[in-house]
Amino acid sequence: MTANEIRDSFVKFFESKGHLIVPSAPMVIKDDPTLMFTNAGMNQFKDIILGNRPATSKRCTDSQKCLRVSGKHNDLEEVGHDTYHHTMFEMLGNWSFGDYFKKEAIEWAWEYLVDVLKIDKSNLYATVFEGSPEEGLERDNEAASYWEKFLPADHIINGNKHDNFWEMGATGPCGPCSEIHIDLRPEEEKAKVPGRELVNKDNPLVIEIWNLVFMQYNRKADQTLEPLPAKVIDTGMGFERLCAVMQGKRSNYDTDVFQPIIKVIGDLSDCRYGEDAKKDVAMRVVADHLRTIAFSIADGQLPGNAKAGYVIRRILRRAVRYAYTFLGQKEAFMYKLLPVLVQEMGKSYPELEAQKVLISKVMKEEEDSFLRTLETGIRLLDRVMAETRASGKTVIDGVEAFTLFDTYGFPLDLTELICRENGMTVDEETFHAEMQKQKERARNAAAVETGDWVVVKEGETEFKGWDYTEHECHILRYRKVTQKKQTFYQIVLDYTPFYAEMGGQVGDRGVLCSEHETIEIVDTKRENNLPVHIAKTLPEHPEADFMACVDTDLRAASEANHTCTHLLDQALRTVLGEHVEQKGSLVTPEYLRFDFSHFQKVTDEQLREVE
Ligand code: ALA
Repeated sequence: MTANEIRDSFVKFFESKGHLIVPSAPMVIKDDPTLMFTNAGMNQFKDIILGNRPATSKRCTDSQKCLRVSGKHNDLEEVGHDTYHHTMFEMLGNWSFGDYFKKEAIEWAWEYLVDVLKIDKSNLYATVFEGSPEEGLERDNEAASYWEKFLPADHIINGNKHDNFWEMGATGPCGPCSEIHIDLRPEEEKAKVPGRELVNKDNPLVIEIWNLVFMQYNRKADQTLEPLPAKVIDTGMGFERLCAVMQGKRSNYDTDVFQPIIKVIGDLSDCRYGEDAKKDVAMRVVADHLRTIAFSIADGQLPGNAKAGYVIRRILRRAVRYAYTFLGQKEAFMYKLLPVLVQEMGKSYPELEAQKVLISKVMKEEEDSFLRTLETGIRLLDRVMAETRASGKTVIDGVEAFTLFDTYGFPLDLTELICRENGMTVDEETFHAEMQKQKERARNAAAVETGDWVVVKEGETEFKGWDYTEHECHILRYRKVTQKKQTFYQIVLDYTPFYAEMGGQVGDRGVLCSEHETIEIVDTKRENNLPVHIAKTLPEHPEADFMACVDTDLRAASEANHTCTHLLDQALRTVLGEHVEQKGSLVTPEYLRFDFSHFQKVTDEQLREVE
């Protein structure tokens, strides 16, 4: 089966079990402060799982673009060095929201792998959660009992909290899980060491392919677990790994998902995959990172200096560095791989085809600018080496190596490589000490402390802003948030006329008044689909009857600017062409900003015409 056939067969199988096939959500996340990128198929359903939104269908299935490069799930450093981790990968999943649970999830996973795909069951292992006394959780005997119908006892393995209790992030939905692993080793090796001893032991041929999570809890900020409103099935299968299994390959990079890209990398850099271990790593890094960067840009995240943009920039630089050092690419190179990526994945992901010109241009610019940085770094390093040599030493000061890294984006392994070529080494200990100091500085600057919700009254929010700018209301819950030494409170109301930040329009400001007090609302944001009012102080009588009043002058000014954003969008398309895509926008009461893609500088004349 080709990769495309495999993806199709998965969602069709679950469709035949009553699941709705839904599209992949974007990989870049804009409305959840706990996540920068989609790291699992369940992210797009998080508000359903938490009970903030009803499910459109109680059973869903999809293939989700995921990125694991930051936060709790981060595989970046493995990528390229092994054959089965990726920054971006596709996760095949099926979900039940308060519908079926463990029994069907396990039975259908088995039916799909063994009856539909005809995978040899003697190669399969299942892990079950062994329990955790400190969390008050018992072994998952129920899941084990369903596996016992299909697998002999020595193919069912207990796993600890690290491997068998899945959590989305530091907080959020979680629960015990059961993973399916497959042993792809040749028979003679299996005879020597049984597969069960290699499960979860980083063996590239004994790997996890599917994780079935039995979501039952929400992890709160104080680390306690509260039960979810309804039990949820959340499964995730590594698509690229499944392709390797089905195509009889031992590496994800040997499948038709990656081979066409690797072939072009080889052609352009005059080397062949499989001939030199270091070059192979570099080719895998480039092939993997190409997908991540292209899809991120297509989803609206351009490389930048902060947050998600910086993560993408660093991934691109990692690829450029490998291509520079090991594949001899001294000029922009990755952007030349885009046509083959579009050819392979553009059908399943039309956003790639639609945005290829922009992606290519952004990539080339980023590559050019980083290559210039590399040149500057090399000149500086030459100077440092000369000075070190002049003082009769052969070890470069780690502080210098850190400055090169931090200011010029010059990675340690590259510094070391160049030093080695010149008969010198780097004082790594000092380098790492500097790195540690830097990390602490960053941590202190970015730390956000989010308290748990304090529930004042049960209920759901209803938005009243279409018809009213003032409305009676009660506080449902509130919590305290501290960031950069500033404290504010997030407040959720039962009825609200406040418009939350959306489509670039800043959230409403105004006041909450009761007979006791008046609380200023400085902003309104949307978190996991919930409008959250931001206040600097907390009411002393949160249970009182309140009146929520929007500052209507500010709202009217924002509305006018929001309307103008749409007018501007249309004017740009009319004057510059239909390819113009909105790339971001900000609408405030004072002004509007509109980011868009176009391939050259807008001329003064065009600007006047747009105006
Ligand atoms: N959410 C689960 C995972 O990512 C299925 O592994």
